[in-house]
Amino acid sequence: MSEAVRSIDPDRLDVRPVHPRIGAEIHGLRLTGAMERATVDRIEAALLEHKVLFIRGQDHLDDAEHEQFGGLLGDVVRHPAANHPTNINLIDGRKSWGRANHWHSDATFKPAYPRATVIRAVNVPETGGATIWANTVTAYHDLPAPLRALADSLRAVHSNMGEFMSYRMDAESEENRRFGQMFQSNAFYAEHPVVRVIPETAERALLLGGYFKHVVGVSREDSRSIHEMLQRHVTRPENCIVWNWRPGDVAIWENRTTQHYATDNYGDFPRMMHSVQLNGDVPIGIDGQPSRTLEAA
Ligand code: SIN
Repeated sequence: MSEAVRSIDPDRLDVRPVHPRIGAEIHGLRLTGAMERATVDRIEAALLEHKVLFIRGQDHLDDAEHEQFGGLLGDVVRHPAANHPTNINLIDGRKSWGRANHWHSDATFKPAYPRATVIRAVNVPETGGATIWANTVTAYHDLPAPLRALADSLRAVHSNMGEFMSYRMDAESEENRRFGQMFQSNAFYAEHPVVRVIPETAERALLLGGYFKHVVGVSREDSRSIHEMLQRHVTRPENCIVWNWRPGDVAIWENRTTQHYATDNYGDFPRMMHSVQLNGDVPIGIDGQPSRTLEAA
């Protein structure tokens, strides 16, 4: 079917999986801040199914319309720790903290951390600077039964004071040191189930990643081993999609069922991404227990 025929049928989206487990590209769609509800509902449904959606050629978007489009999918929320002056997160590769080359789901140090993120490639290198996403639902299902039972039984503390942030505090430049201090000026601690149930689909997803601090009731040393073991299943290559950016690409990721990693292999190229985050729901474990805020680790 030609692009022209597709684009005159408003009742369907042309969603093409780009990987058997995670990721689909939507063709023939122009994102705006004023889209039909039916189209937005189809985007939502595709996001739940494929976990990450890619839409190329959205160069017409500016920050205002990017945020308006995000607002059609949910409530846009300010990053809880990064102190960006607006709802738009400026992910600037010229600053070491703009190179998110660590596996994480966004802001899991808050109980109701973001449900989704909409990111836009403003300036990207011709090669390098790809972002990788992993499906945390298939990762859970791939676990051998005894490890699934172990994960089902665990709760874990996440924090912005976790170890993964510490490299920013130690970063060589004054600007990066200041960012690290600012990022950690308010300490956030959340206790989450290690396996959360997604209310819309009843899917079970592993809730781990870079803000993990320790498993409740388990020593730091054993917590690290448990995290490494489960996280290894999340980031297996079979479970991951690599997206090579072109300027004007938009990606929407389901932050509850994915982790991501921005590869830092583009030298001094001024890679720049803009993103907005959408309000999330409080995770519920398979025992029905919700996540909660903690005062300390
Ligand atoms: C992020 O981790 O939110 C940034 C992703 C990217 O720079 O590709």
